[in-house]
Amino acid sequence: MLLAEVNCLAVPHAKGRSGRYTRAWITSDIDRIPAVMNRDLVRLQQYPFEKLAELKQDLQPPAGLDHIALSIGEPQHSPPHLVVEQLIAHLHQLARYPSTRGSDELRTAIADWLTQRFELPASAVDPASQVLPVSGTREALFAIAQCIVDRNQAAPAVLMPNPFYQIYEGAALLAGAEPIFLNCLPQNGFLPDLGAVAQSVWQRCQLIYICSPGNPSGAVMPFEYLAGLIELAQEHDFVIASDECYSEIYPDESAPPPGLLGAAWQLGLTDYRHCLAFHSLSKRSNLPGLRSGFVAGDADLLRDFLRYRTYQGCALPTATQTASIAAWRDEDHVLANRALYREKFARVTEVLSATLAPQSPQAGFYLWAETPIADTEFARRLYAEQNVTVLPGRYLARDSNGINPGENRVRMALVAPLDECLDAAQRVNHMMNNW
Ligand SMILES: Cc1ncc(COP(=O)(O)O)c(C=O)c1O
Repeated sequence: MLLAEVNCLAVPHAKGRSGRYTRAWITSDIDRIPAVMNRDLVRLQQYPFEKLAELKQDLQPPAGLDHIALSIGEPQHSPPHLVVEQLIAHLHQLARYPSTRGSDELRTAIADWLTQRFELPASAVDPASQVLPVSGTREALFAIAQCIVDRNQAAPAVLMPNPFYQIYEGAALLAGAEPIFLNCLPQNGFLPDLGAVAQSVWQRCQLIYICSPGNPSGAVMPFEYLAGLIELAQEHDFVIASDECYSEIYPDESAPPPGLLGAAWQLGLTDYRHCLAFHSLSKRSNLPGLRSGFVAGDADLLRDFLRYRTYQGCALPTATQTASIAAWRDEDHVLANRALYREKFARVTEVLSATLAPQSPQAGFYLWAETPIADTEFARRLYAEQNVTVLPGRYLARDSNGINPGENRVRMALVAPLDECLDAAQRVNHMMNNW
């Protein structure tokens, strides 16, 4: 079959699934995809950092100022020694294939962590059936949609917050579902307005991604919110994938953010039916390069997810598993990590109170600051005049219900050392005071 013929066939196919794409857009883009490949690849959006690189490409920042990147959410505090030591000490384990299910010791360490963190009874999480280690939550958040979504049902939908972590959208698209964006606006505390979702959408919903604490806003879903969503999931038979990878970065030691499994338990849903929580060592323990996290919850879902993962081939190397045990079993380094963020947020928001005046987030390590001019223009000027990079909010969101909820906001990750973050904040002030 000629490529042109394939394109013609592919257009109504793609359109029929989402009903949102114009023929011109699909046809021009689909030409880039070889005829033998998955036609849904064309629906994947440019990643925010590619858009940011394009936004900055014609700009020349001042040579006398070092570059400060507040754009990337990659932790820069030191990884804990005890974890690195375990990793090095167990490198000989590279000689063996690892198991996808993970070692009993790792799953037990994770179950223990979960029960302590969310104040559950010691037996509330069964390490044998309710926990699976993952190679960082990114791959697992993507993979879960491939495992859950049933393309054979009419118009499958995957719901997600807007703005969002872009993996949710790509996962929905490649699973053959329609991504439905739930705007997170200040008037709703930056949480999706679940009451505004039509019954017909809940009926099509097979999976919903939630993110608490949220990226980028840091908004935390309270127990009542999680409870309401869990009830909807039981009523309409959909799965909740709760991305909790920022759950350990919070300002008040006496008020850790609640999690999905804790809420389910409190509701008496002790088998966590339809509930999956995703946690990561990347932010909690400053180990983004270790690629280690876990998913926990509904044992029926996890049994099939394990089967999927066996084929996908995403087992954690055994040395990584051993190092991860040390990380999940230690809270001292996590406390110290939080103290560093606490100081940074207090100092940086104080400096910025003169200009941008961003709200301190409820949790997480981002400022989600409102900009007095368009977010893209703000980011361009800040880079051109002060050599500081921030991420325009619109790149993290999609137009939904006539608005892009990321517009006129920028995401600033306070991951760099305190001095660098303070320097960046002063440069923001300098730019805004000289407009
Ligand atoms: C909201 C959110 N979820 C998940 C991830 C993935 O984290 P990891 O794959 O390192 O566990 C990130 C990474 O930045 C994120 O911001």
